[in-house]
Amino acid sequence: MRAVVYDHYGPPDVLRIEDVSQPVTKEDEVLVKIHATTVNRMDVHTREANRRGGLAVSVLSRLVSGVRAPRQRILGSEFAGEVAAVGAAVTEFAVGDRVFGNTGLGFGAHAEFICMSESARIAKMPAGMTFEQAAPICDGALNALWCLRLARLQQGSTVLIYGASGAIGTAGVQLAKYFGADVTAVCNTKNLELVKSLGADRVIDYTKEDFTTNGQAYDVIFDAVGKHSFKRSEGSLMPGGRYLATDGFTNVVLGLWTRRFGDKKVIFQLPPRWTKQDILLLKELIETGKFRPVIDRRYPMEDVVEAATYVETEQKTGNVVLTIDQDSG
Ligand SMILES: NC(=O)c1ccc[n+]([C@@H]2O[C@H](COP(=O)([O-])OP(=O)(O)OC[C@H]3O[C@@H](n4cnc5c(N)ncnc54)[C@H](OP(=O)(O)O)[C@@H]3O)[C@@H](O)[C@H]2O)c1
Repeated sequence: MRAVVYDHYGPPDVLRIEDVSQPVTKEDEVLVKIHATTVNRMDVHTREANRRGGLAVSVLSRLVSGVRAPRQRILGSEFAGEVAAVGAAVTEFAVGDRVFGNTGLGFGAHAEFICMSESARIAKMPAGMTFEQAAPICDGALNALWCLRLARLQQGSTVLIYGASGAIGTAGVQLAKYFGADVTAVCNTKNLELVKSLGADRVIDYTKEDFTTNGQAYDVIFDAVGKHSFKRSEGSLMPGGRYLATDGFTNVVLGLWTRRFGDKKVIFQLPPRWTKQDILLLKELIETGKFRPVIDRRYPMEDVVEAATYVETEQKTGNVVLTIDQDSG
């Protein structure tokens, strides 16, 4: 099968397409023919061994992914496709089912085929979706779900989402509304209308207004794009407020510190523990009109370097889809 592979950590042009052996299903696994996947921030960070995160984060990244070279040569952590074969013990899926899923740090989705255990994060696609629409369901939404659950939102909790236009941010706005929160979303001028359409109660254009100086305070500030900080947000948190982080070694330390000291807490818990139930929830939310993954650009598999280069700008709106099989619907 064809797959996008890399053998060295580095810039986007370490990626190339190669013929590799097709995986073979075990008893409890399904073989999925992938039609669409995504290029996301976890792919680009892993590919460059998180060097932009600093030495400590880069060393940790290599310990997870392979010290000298990547152990898993195929990136890609989410997919949509068709079941092509099932193991003898599989009961939930049949050949021909349209499925979507998430492999997390196991990666492997930038390929024509992948094997998944039927109990893993794989489910039948929401009705009426194309493969390209279904491929980006999981990445931003699972990350947002993990963070928002840790914040223990209640009906009417006030949440400010900073970086509301990214993969995590666009999902975060919709999921915070699902949890009953009052949502203020912060993004750039060009994304204001989009973010409003996702359900934000109000939007702030960060190019025109600094939310930390407008006198408002929130129960939760969700830094969905890793560009703000607890220090700059602290004054805009209500007493007992929580700052949800998605990135940054400093936030790991602050999370430990504020757990014991101070009234306002930094919440950054790694690694996230996502389950099959989580993606079944996302499927239900899509089918009931409460969630939709936002797609910015689509690239064919052959243009993976260009796709990764765009994702690295940190300016995508929602998600970037990589189409593996151009002829599929
Ligand atoms: N996605 C993952 O798999 C994953 C997993 C773990 C952690 N993370 C971390 O979580 C964070 C978000 O990931 P993501 O995938 O959601 O990011 P993303 O989709 O790449 O975020 C891009 C969006 O952020 C906005 N943005 C950029 N700079 C900004 C700023 N200074 N203020 C406000 N908005 C800004 C951009 O719009 P404008 O430039 O137009 O404002 C763009 O819409 C990253 O730090 C990432 O490393 C991601």
